[in-house]
Amino acid sequence: MRDDLEAICVIENQRFERPWSKEMFLSHLRKRDCGMLAAIQDGITVGYLVFERGEDFVEIKKIAVDYLHSRCNVGRALVKSLTQRMEGTTSKLTLTVQERNLNAQLFFKHLGYQAVAIIRDSSAEVAEDSYIMENEFLSSEPETVELEDIRPFPIKLIVKNAS
Ligand SMILES: CC(C)(COP(=O)(O)OP(=O)(O)OC[C@H]1O[C@@H](n2cnc3c(N)ncnc32)[C@H](O)[C@@H]1OP(=O)(O)O)[C@@H](O)C(=O)NCCC(=O)NCCS
Repeated sequence: MRDDLEAICVIENQRFERPWSKEMFLSHLRKRDCGMLAAIQDGITVGYLVFERGEDFVEIKKIAVDYLHSRCNVGRALVKSLTQRMEGTTSKLTLTVQERNLNAQLFFKHLGYQAVAIIRDSSAEVAEDSYIMENEFLSSEPETVELEDIRPFPIKLIVKNAS
């Protein structure tokens, strides 16, 4: 897992203005209800997703894909894999995305997520409003995920908490 975290931190630094440190990842992953998925291609970590289970929902805390592998369905495979793992245990996936992160909004919209609320942030020097986006699915009509969808980017569960 430490090797994966090194690679994950490289992607994290590449993709976020205020990246989590390795210690921040570790402190999240130590929590009982947190887990992480890593997308591995040819032995190389190309993306990851950190999640946390609430009482009746699962929150995507982080998702990022290496620039070189953007728009290659890695992000979609990670979210689908999480959805598949959570089927039957929760009916709602949720996340917070910054208002100015249009790419992520379009990505999640494409996966069926809808903005349901806005969080006004007046505390930061530069206001950073965010949207809460959700995807509700009925356990009686789960999203069908074909394994073929993720075969080009095998998903390895590197922390099994909350699975
Ligand atoms: C958001 C992110 C995880 C998407 O991962 P990805 O692997 O590039 O996305 P996918 O290839 O799986 O995209 C699936 C679909 O989402 C939509 N989509 C993804 N990125 C998009 C973009 N920048 N603009 C418009 N639509 C986009 C497209 O419909 C795409 O399908 P298509 O390529 O066949 O048109 C990635 O861009 C990323 O790491 N961003 C930086 C970190 C970040 O902002 N994380 C989210 C914080 S809330």
